[in-house]
Amino acid sequence: MPRIGLMTSGGECAGLNTALRAVVPRADLGHGWKVIGIEIGTLGLFQKLVENRPLSPNDFDGTLIRQSGTILGSTNTGNPLASESLDGSLALLKKLGDKVGISLICIPKTIDNDVGVTEVAVGYDTAVHVATEALDLLQPTAASHGRVNILKVMGWDAGHILLFFGIVVGADVILILEIPYDIARVARHLETAKERGRRFALIIVVEAVKSLEGGEVTGGNATGTKLLGGIGHTLTARLSKIVTPDIRLTVLGHVQRGGIPTARDGLMTSACGVRAGDLLAEGARNRMAAWRSRAVIDVPIADAISAYHSVDSDGSVVATARDLGISFGYR
Ligand code: F6P
Repeated sequence: MPRIGLMTSGGECAGLNTALRAVVPRADLGHGWKVIGIEIGTLGLFQKLVENRPLSPNDFDGTLIRQSGTILGSTNTGNPLASESLDGSLALLKKLGDKVGISLICIPKTIDNDVGVTEVAVGYDTAVHVATEALDLLQPTAASHGRVNILKVMGWDAGHILLFFGIVVGADVILILEIPYDIARVARHLETAKERGRRFALIIVVEAVKSLEGGEVTGGNATGTKLLGGIGHTLTARLSKIVTPDIRLTVLGHVQRGGIPTARDGLMTSACGVRAGDLLAEGARNRMAAWRSRAVIDVPIADAISAYHSVDSDGSVVATARDLGISFGYR
């Protein structure tokens, strides 16, 4: 019986178990393959004895389809091709596949939604949903106390999440990495809004944002790994000095990756999973199932990597935000 290996790699997000649940029955019942789950992402793949467990359609007949995380585990640290500079798990896997001649088929997933060609990646919609709810919950306390509340959101690679929920909930200021901000401009925007009668303010900021005068704010952890982090505290301290001392910070963090997959994520993920199984059956190599114009399609992985999808700072969504009076803190 032919065998396929299935793994989840990079930072996990909502929808990964949904994707496994789509691929496994399609591969097993649809095409008659045995499916081997490779555990802990690329780390498991590079063990002398690849960490693995067999997967069968019966593993997915409970509520797993709706659970976040990944039963296979994952990793977003370590690069087995350390001599080569590679951004993201997709680029890494493509390179590995080329080196050892694997038929690689993948499904885009990341809360950052920065994968090219596909309109949306698995996990993005759920992360937007979680962040939207968080800002909905902050709004009443900010309004009641007439305060400035800052919400710091995860995101290394693109500001799509913030742009989306910032417009939807009505943030005053959105700081994303694609538009470096000027702290004086942020302060002026808050003061003008106050003069016009706005009693409180909501600021949302992504961890990777850069100020006009400096780079992103970084921290670290006990292992010595350089991490993005600290922008929420930095921003709070800076604005406290020039706008008002009464500012509160909320750090959303990894809950963004843990929501129950939204219906949109669930549908798109299921369609991509089935397509991925069929692509293997067709003998395809290095292709990615993708979502475009309300349908599942497939594209070369190389195109998805090269067409990196960041926020278009001159695009219509940013323009919509600006026209609604939202500031990006740009000069
Ligand atoms: O790239 C995906 C992502 O979820 C980013 O948005 C996030 O900042 C990053 O991974 C953090 O990952 P971790 O803290 O798990 O290393």
